[in-house]
Amino acid sequence: MKPVLEIENLGKSFGTKVIFDRISFAVGQNEVLSVIGQSGTGKSVLLKNIMGIIKPDSGSIFVNGKNLYTNSGEIDREILSKMGILFQGAALFDSLDVYGNIMFGLERSKMDIMEKKRRFSDVLNSLGLRGYESKSVSELSGGIQKRVGLARAIVLKPEIMLYDEPTTGVDPITAGVVNSLILRMREIYGMTSIVVTHDIESACRISDRIIMLHGGNIIFSGTPSELMESTLEEVTDFVRR
Ligand SMILES: Nc1ncnc2c1ncn2[C@@H]1O[C@H](COP(=O)(O)OP(=O)(O)O)[C@@H](O)[C@H]1O
Ligand SMILES: [Mg+2]
Repeated sequence: MKPVLEIENLGKSFGTKVIFDRISFAVGQNEVLSVIGQSGTGKSVLLKNIMGIIKPDSGSIFVNGKNLYTNSGEIDREILSKMGILFQGAALFDSLDVYGNIMFGLERSKMDIMEKKRRFSDVLNSLGLRGYESKSVSELSGGIQKRVGLARAIVLKPEIMLYDEPTTGVDPITAGVVNSLILRMREIYGMTSIVVTHDIESACRISDRIIMLHGGNIIFSGTPSELMESTLEEVTDFVRR
């Protein structure tokens, strides 16, 4: 499988607190990879490293074989534009309606207005958001807010989609919908997905592969069934919690 994203020897500490101690993994094209681990193990920091929001102390991040950072240490904006993120809790702008939230990402793009409108209409359909265009954020249920957050990222057509705890704090029905959406985004747009979660059930349902972070290292990497069969203490503690 051709790797789309490669993480090599990534290291990150905050002061004396080591978050990652040289972790490495790769994600193949079209793959859904989940990253699990206890709260505070650095899952969100990992996504922020990949999105260029927090700079790692050491190691490299390659997208399609190209380093996210240029030789002078600057972020390569073109590489960054290949990635999209759904933040925990969707993080929408309350002052904007659904249209404004989804168009936000496109506003600064040089794309012509017809293309912007075509893309907007496209994501509205694929995410079942027709009729919500002029609703304000406060009028939306949690599930619809997630869809709008997803639409805002998808409209930029990222090759890699990152999800931070997409099913945390939502009811089981919405969690099911969110999981189906992650799989549909892959189907429709051929996206590669990285899903950070502590929801084992969701991770097992949607993932091709799961990695587990613990104590600054990747202590497990395998398929959902391999995870369930693992006898590693850290894994069994986490799975049966
Ligand atoms: N910007 C930051 N500055 C200092 N410490 C941080 C920062 N971001 C995260 N941390 C710390 O890094 C650790 C990992 O955080 P996080 O990635 O949010 O965990 P997770 O998402 O796995 O629950 C936590 O101990 C957190 O307090
Ligand atoms: Mg987190």
